[in-house]
Amino acid sequence: MNDRPVYLDHQATTPVDPRVVEAMLPYLTSEFGNPSSSHAYGRTAAAAVATARTRVAALIGAAGPDEIVFTSSGTESNHLALTGAAQALRAAGRGDHIVTTAIEHPATQATCDRLAGDGFRVTRLPVGPDGRLDPAGLVHAVGPDTVLVSVMHANNEIGTLQPLPELAAVTRERGILLHTDAAQSPATVAVDVDALGVDLLTLVGHKMYAPKGVGALYIRRGTPALRPQLVGGGQEHGLRAATENVPGIVALGAAAEIARTEHATDAARIRALRDRLLGALTTALPGLRLNGSSRHRLPGNLSLTFPSHTADRLMTATPGLAFSAGSACHSGGTAPSPVLTAIGLTPDEAARTVRLGIGRHTTGADITTAAELLVTATTPVRP
Ligand SMILES: Cc1ncc(COP(=O)(O)O)c(C=O)c1O
Repeated sequence: MNDRPVYLDHQATTPVDPRVVEAMLPYLTSEFGNPSSSHAYGRTAAAAVATARTRVAALIGAAGPDEIVFTSSGTESNHLALTGAAQALRAAGRGDHIVTTAIEHPATQATCDRLAGDGFRVTRLPVGPDGRLDPAGLVHAVGPDTVLVSVMHANNEIGTLQPLPELAAVTRERGILLHTDAAQSPATVAVDVDALGVDLLTLVGHKMYAPKGVGALYIRRGTPALRPQLVGGGQEHGLRAATENVPGIVALGAAAEIARTEHATDAARIRALRDRLLGALTTALPGLRLNGSSRHRLPGNLSLTFPSHTADRLMTATPGLAFSAGSACHSGGTAPSPVLTAIGLTPDEAARTVRLGIGRHTTGADITTAAELLVTATTPVRP
């Protein structure tokens, strides 16, 4: 492992925690039953899914496991929340207006684009230079035909946390559903559906030390029934047909249990490492800029605009580090990141911006290496 680059891309994905691997392994081998089968194999699998559901519910302070639907991903959870709610509420004559922000993950943006194509009215609110949505802006955006507001909890590029309780005060008063994409938060931030005031909440396995390909959607009791997007065998309370990904679900449950009990200690350690890295870089590189609110942000996230080097040049110059330019969830394009543009960066500044993501297994030595490599890569060699 030692000759591999230092991994600083925890907003792209997290490694699977060894304890999570251990928990899921039996469900890849001996306990292979289909939870819908009524024999012993099926009952064992169904019991494991039930335990995982209870653990996920406990992580987010849900009233009960019946409020959790397992999905294949964050993308699917967002899609089910937005499309399922929008279609159901329009059919019930409640309205066709959706409000979201300019900095949502592409999973939400693209779902909203599709809904707009299907005749829904979509408002995308701007955020301030600190990456946060002003609740007053939401008050002005909603109207009698607004059925749904979707605002992410923590941004995957700049790490900014949104003022969800204040936003919930606006939606609650008007009987509007509030969805949040909390993909990035649970490993280091307390996520409590009542404290946040949300009706729908997206969770993603591979951002919280479970594998890729599993997610969950929290649906508050009493929420009007969402229109299922996958129909078939009636699994997941009829909301998401398909045989359950039992090993993935067990893994998500184990990861949720670890996050519930360890997120606060992880957060403190990770925040200290982040502050050390930021301190070392700002001291050595005058003109370096931190993007997004420094107070309301994921403990492990640094979005940094370098004074002279582009992200591409920095990545080439530091093969010993694994980090991202913008967001790895949708990299490959050359257009400036819409999130960075939304907080006011010019295309040139966006091109000089990198994302460093610190996580559960990052060590102090990793931070020392990262600071040295980045400073060396950006400091002109003296003749
Ligand atoms: C904030 C956010 N939402 C949604 C997703 C999509 O999750 P998935 O990759 O499981 O589809 C990601 C990451 O990819 C994310 O960072």
